[in-house]
Amino acid sequence: MILTCTFDPVTKNEISFIRKYMKEHRMKDIYVKVEGEGVLSKRIRQKLLQKAVQPYRHIHVCKEGEGMAMQGFRDEEEMIRRGHFYLAADGIKKILCENGFYFTNIMEAMCTKERIIHSYGVADMAKELAEFYGFDPEIAYQMGLLHDITKRFDKQENEKIMQIYHPEWLDISEKVWHSFTAVTWVKQNMGLHDHRILNAMYHHTLGDGHSPYCHILYMADKLEINRTYECERERKEAYKDLYKGAVFVRDSANRHIK
Ligand SMILES: [Fe+2]
Ligand SMILES: [Fe+2]
Repeated sequence: MILTCTFDPVTKNEISFIRKYMKEHRMKDIYVKVEGEGVLSKRIRQKLLQKAVQPYRHIHVCKEGEGMAMQGFRDEEEMIRRGHFYLAADGIKKILCENGFYFTNIMEAMCTKERIIHSYGVADMAKELAEFYGFDPEIAYQMGLLHDITKRFDKQENEKIMQIYHPEWLDISEKVWHSFTAVTWVKQNMGLHDHRILNAMYHHTLGDGHSPYCHILYMADKLEINRTYECERERKEAYKDLYKGAVFVRDSANRHIK
């Protein structure tokens, strides 16, 4: 018997369904197969499925053969592709985070049109700066994508998160709140715990972080290609020295605000 689904990606409930199906039909072994188009390639979805069924030795992943389609899981898979990684099967959540799977989908689902363009701009520049200074370009790209993920939340929504998780920052301007709420959102929904990313996101508005990734994200946020204000001088400084560049950019941003 083969059960098929898109498994884009495989969910916790799909695994439960497969196990229940085996039990109800008194099957000793069962086969599962990735079928149809997905955001992730078939090869990657198969690998994730393999990982998810690993603890169950009577569930096997196959690549060929006619099967019966599992129905009713489409919405849940879509939820995961929008960042609700806690719905994903055990054992694959970490892989989704580490590989940045669905990060662009999550960002696009969470942001306005303008913010999407900006976030891609930040991700591209952060990646370029990381490559230039010898840091991990993928991590830099990921933090660029996610840094403004809660920017669209209204005041009440952000305030609710702030009151519980960041009450010490409630007095600061509302414009800064999204730096903190974004960190809470990716931790809780995606299970993302990479400190390089979280730290850089946390400090991206005030520019008060100290790690190389903080400087990279801060500068990329201010200087990405879609910024329409004059910042040629700042862009040059960004590629002279990572630390001094960030200080230069922050000073000129503060001057501008004043
Ligand atoms: Fe921001
Ligand atoms: Fe931003």
